[in-house]
Amino acid sequence: MRFLKHVAPALLMPLAGCASVQSIRNTHGPASERIASLSWLMTITFLIVTVLMWALLAVAAKRRRGSLAEHMPIDIGGGQAWIAIGGLAVPLIILTVVFVLGLQLLADFPIHGMHGGMMHGGMSDKMLADAPKPDIRIVGHQWWWEVQYLNGPLEGQFTTANEIHIPTHRAINIELESGDVMHSFWVPALHGKVDLIPGHPNFLRVEASDTGNFQGQCAEFCGAQHAHMRIFVVAQDPAAYDAWVEAQRRPGAQPTTQEALLGQQLFLSGPCAMCHQVRGTLAGGHVAPDLTHIGSRQYIASNSFPNNDAYLEAWITHAQSLKPGAKMPNLTQFDGVQLRSLVAYLRQLQ
Ligand code: CUA
Repeated sequence: MRFLKHVAPALLMPLAGCASVQSIRNTHGPASERIASLSWLMTITFLIVTVLMWALLAVAAKRRRGSLAEHMPIDIGGGQAWIAIGGLAVPLIILTVVFVLGLQLLADFPIHGMHGGMMHGGMSDKMLADAPKPDIRIVGHQWWWEVQYLNGPLEGQFTTANEIHIPTHRAINIELESGDVMHSFWVPALHGKVDLIPGHPNFLRVEASDTGNFQGQCAEFCGAQHAHMRIFVVAQDPAAYDAWVEAQRRPGAQPTTQEALLGQQLFLSGPCAMCHQVRGTLAGGHVAPDLTHIGSRQYIASNSFPNNDAYLEAWITHAQSLKPGAKMPNLTQFDGVQLRSLVAYLRQLQ
């Protein structure tokens, strides 16, 4: 009884993953729906085979009476048939069916984006030339996501970070690159995992069938803060998406309050501007997330903490406590008034 009380919760723990917002069962796009059906098929087949195996084992254990010699003459012929069917034919059929369905899925929802092509270990120059023009380029960094919107004319392109907006019911071609080590882009509600490999761009085509906020996670261990490299996708109806794009194209808002104005001065004259960009100001750093519209984002630190005054203050002064090892240093030189001004400036960058 005590054993059950203590061990049963542990055994049930893996099931907790099934109910999460990041579950592959929680699908919001055609690609993820197909992945989920295929995984159901594989799970059910696996359960049937397992139950059958244990049943046969139980029968064998029950029948095994007397000496080996007694059973030899009867068993040997039937035994060979069992091995041929159960050990060769059945696995061959199951694996072939699953393999073909997997290839079909990759052809319909290309991960490398070439003319309905299938997943490929590496892309040749020709494949790269044939790949569709990306709408979005995502660059993985330790430990955040740079998001470049490439659709439309050059002057309409813009860069943001960590919060990825897409319109619903439109196939979006995403080019995935890495700025340092290997990462993996995974938003289970939309598609499978794709690696971001230094010097080797990969492609992913996603489509959202519903509006909503979809969470994801870097799925390749990439250093100490790999777990804090979260992904946040906002799927909007096309009109709302277009409005968002319009707003993102604008330069950073000019402060209208005294407090925010002081914050802007501190931002531009202090260390912030060396790493971060705010379009329309002299802050032109490119090694850290673009902050032109930081005020419009729901989270900070690669979607690890809510974007509010308290967390922004904590992030500026104690980034190394919130995300040890991140390239953002602890900026402890600001007094209370300065810190609140900086946060006021960032918050009004809508
Ligand atoms: Cu990036 Cu793990």
